[in-house]
Amino acid sequence: MSTAQDAPRTRVIRDTNPADTADVLAEVAPHTVADVARAIERAKRAYPAWRATPPPERGRVLARAAEIARSRLDELARLLTREEGKVLGEARGEVLKGIALLEWYSGEGFRLGGKTRPSEMPTTLLWTMRQPLGVVAIITPWNFPWAEPAWKVAPALVAGNAVLLKPASLTPLVAERYVDILAEAGLPDGVLTLVVGSGGDVGDALVTDPEIRAVSFTGSCEVGSGVYARAAGRLAKVTCEMGGKNAVVVMPDADLDLAAAGIVQGAFGSTGQRCTATSLAVVHRAVSRKLCDIVVDHARALVVGNGLEAGVQMGPLVDAQQLATVLTYIEAGAREGAQLVTGGRRIQEGACARGFFVEPTVFAGVRPDQRIAQDEIFGPVLSLIDVASLDEALQVTNGLRYGLTSSIYASDANTIMRFVDGVEAGMVHVNSPTVGGEAQIPFGGIKWSGIGGREMAEEGLEFFTELKSVFFDYTGRARATNIY
Ligand code: UN1
Repeated sequence: MSTAQDAPRTRVIRDTNPADTADVLAEVAPHTVADVARAIERAKRAYPAWRATPPPERGRVLARAAEIARSRLDELARLLTREEGKVLGEARGEVLKGIALLEWYSGEGFRLGGKTRPSEMPTTLLWTMRQPLGVVAIITPWNFPWAEPAWKVAPALVAGNAVLLKPASLTPLVAERYVDILAEAGLPDGVLTLVVGSGGDVGDALVTDPEIRAVSFTGSCEVGSGVYARAAGRLAKVTCEMGGKNAVVVMPDADLDLAAAGIVQGAFGSTGQRCTATSLAVVHRAVSRKLCDIVVDHARALVVGNGLEAGVQMGPLVDAQQLATVLTYIEAGAREGAQLVTGGRRIQEGACARGFFVEPTVFAGVRPDQRIAQDEIFGPVLSLIDVASLDEALQVTNGLRYGLTSSIYASDANTIMRFVDGVEAGMVHVNSPTVGGEAQIPFGGIKWSGIGGREMAEEGLEFFTELKSVFFDYTGRARATNIY
C-alpha cells in the first residue's frame, strides 16, 4: 500500500439532510485503503468461528436483530428520512422491509442445505452441501440505506461469511445503525465491519483485494459494470443489481383510476429515486388522454416538502448533483419535443428553500427514442408514450436496454398473460405498481439491470455459498467407478 493511501484523513463526509442542508447529521471521516486492509484481516480472523457456528444459531442472531430493529422502528425511520430524504411513511416501510428480510433469512438458518441424489453405483449416496465463501464485500446505494444492507448482509451472514459493508457515502449513519444492531444482537466482533468512503478508493480496495471472495453491489450501471469487470478479472463471484427504466402498460380495458394511482405511486414514490420506479407509462391510444388527465391531477395534488412533516407526500432529491441531473433531463425532454404537462421546475419557495426539491413532472407524447424515454433518470419524472396495441407496447418496453421490472393494467386474462410471457424483465406486476419486492421471492433484473443471480429468497442465499458435491461410497471394498 502506498504512503499516499496511508496519509491521515483530511477530507470528511458531511452527512446532510437533503430537505434542509442546514441540518448536518454528522461529519464522518472516511476510511483509508489501509483501514480496509485491516478490516479484511479482522474479518479473516473472525471467519472460522462464525463458519463453525451452527446455521440455526447464526439465524437467531438475525432474529434478535429484527426484534431490536422493530422496537426502534420510529427512531430508525426518522433518521432515514433525515439522512436520505424520503417521507416518513416510506422510511417506515423501508425499515419494515429490512426487518422482514432479517426474519426470512433468520429462518434460512434451519433450511440451509442441499439435495440428495441416487448414484449409478450400489451402496453409494450423493448429496450436495452449501458452505460459506469466506470474507465477502457488500456495496450498497444511498436510496435504500437500511433495506439494501439488510437484504444483502442477512443472507451473507446466515450462510456463515464474514462481511465488509460499504454503504454509499451519502448515507453512512443508517447503515451504521444496522451494523450496531447486529452487534447488539450478538454478532461476534469482526464478522461484520462497516467501511465508509468513496467507491474510487474504499470500494475499489474491496473489489480488487484477493481476500474478498465475492462482491455484491447495488448501484448504477456505470459503476456496476466496472465492479463486475474488475472482480471478474480476479475470478471473484459478483452480483450487480443496477438501473431500471420501468414501464407500466395500460390497456383500454384497465381500471384507469387504479392504473393512474399505481403509476403515480411508482413514479413519484421515493421521489422517483428507486431502481424500480415507474419512469414510463406506455398507454393504449384509446385511453391515453383520459389516463393522462387523472395522472396529472394526482401529480399536482402531491404535497412536496420535508418528509419529517405530517402530510408531506414527496421528499427532495438526495443531493445537488442528483438535482442537476434531473433538471437536465427535464430540459432535454422539452427540447426534444415532448409535451410538459405538469411540473418541470425546482421548488425553492418557503420551507423548500434549503433543499433539493423538484416538482412531480409529467411529459406526454413522448417518442420511444427520446432520452427521457431511454435513460434512467432517478427522479420524479414520468413519460407517457402512446401505442396502438399490446404488441407495440411490448416493442417499446423490450426495446429498452434495461429489464428490471414492469407492470400491466388490464382486465382480459389473455392480454395480461401475453404481457407476462413476453416482457423482457426480471419482475412483472399485474394491476399493481412497478415498485416493491418481498423477502420470500427473488428480486432482480435482466439485460443492463442485473448480472450474477437474483437477490432475496433462497436464491439470494445461493450467491453467498459455495456448493460442494459429496460422493459417499459405503460398500467397504474397492470397485470400478461408473465411468469405467
Ligand atoms: C423496492 O422497490 O422496494 O435501488 C426496492 C433500488 C432497489 C430497491 C428497490 N435496489 O431502488
